[in-house]
Amino acid sequence: MEKKDIDWGELTFSYQPCDYSYVCDYENGAWGEGGLTADHTVTLSECAGILHYCQECFEGLKAYTTEDGSIVCFRPDLNARRMADSAERLVMPPFPEDRFVDAVRQVVAANAAWVPPFGSGATLYVRPVMFATGEVIGVRPADRYQFRILVTPVGPYFKGGVKPITICVSEYDRAAPHGTGNIKAGLNYAMSLYPYEKAHERGFSENLYLDSATRTYVEETGGANVLFVDGEGRLVVPQSATDSILPSITRRSLVSVARDMLGMEVVERPVRFDEVDGFVECGLCGTAAVISPVGRIVAGDHEVVFNGGADEMGPVMTRLRDTLTGIQAGTVEAPE
Ligand code: COI
Repeated sequence: MEKKDIDWGELTFSYQPCDYSYVCDYENGAWGEGGLTADHTVTLSECAGILHYCQECFEGLKAYTTEDGSIVCFRPDLNARRMADSAERLVMPPFPEDRFVDAVRQVVAANAAWVPPFGSGATLYVRPVMFATGEVIGVRPADRYQFRILVTPVGPYFKGGVKPITICVSEYDRAAPHGTGNIKAGLNYAMSLYPYEKAHERGFSENLYLDSATRTYVEETGGANVLFVDGEGRLVVPQSATDSILPSITRRSLVSVARDMLGMEVVERPVRFDEVDGFVECGLCGTAAVISPVGRIVAGDHEVVFNGGADEMGPVMTRLRDTLTGIQAGTVEAPE
């Protein structure tokens, strides 16, 4: 199979339609057969639930070409589980998890020519999405839905790849306590666009959100989870007492890499923003971000600097990143 003629190393994190998507509709109380389609558009009723009440959730995972040329996906079963949790919270019928994994396999195989080659630094981003197609006018769940998976080849999420970024503590809130912050609902991202534009205007790459009830604890950036390394070399993973942080699959993997492969101590606990000053490294993690170093966090006129202000990723984040991307590309063996 010939790969597409693309300058893989120049790819950014943007949408490039590929040959096929996967589509399956839910109606009359059941998911249909589903299958591949070359049609990358969606036609909707003007009264579809997604358009009015945001009944939608999505996922993100990646496919990789390994050294021997085979194509692999990283833990699609965990995305299937998380999407089922998101669907349940939004009163949508979960797409069966075994069918989710099979649909990912089908759509990746059908677009094999778009999976970036081994060593190119690019990956095939796989974006499952589910939304209400049934008409609603009063606020209630719809009775028809569509599940789709699109794929697109991507490069680094942040401009500059693994160069440390500067983020700011947002004056806006991301998620209410016990709201929808812990599911992958599009509505969580819609609310972040305005704060994102404001942060960009001020020269920051992202916003760091604190817990909305007390503005004391670190939550996440909206597009990624946050990790720290403390002065003792421990990986510190912020936890939310109010279920407001998305449970990142990449974070879960990094915790296991740190603990089981790198012999690091991992501490998962609520992290106050006022203790962040004492940490030596900071990174953002997620499927899109993988693990991207944070060089500085700015809060008003206070600035927290990590890794001594160096212009490169810190040593611990680098080991974590190299080990995880090695497992994903098949060059490092994962523990059983
Ligand atoms: C991902 O990491 O896959 C996400 O869905 C985050 C998104 C903001 C790009």
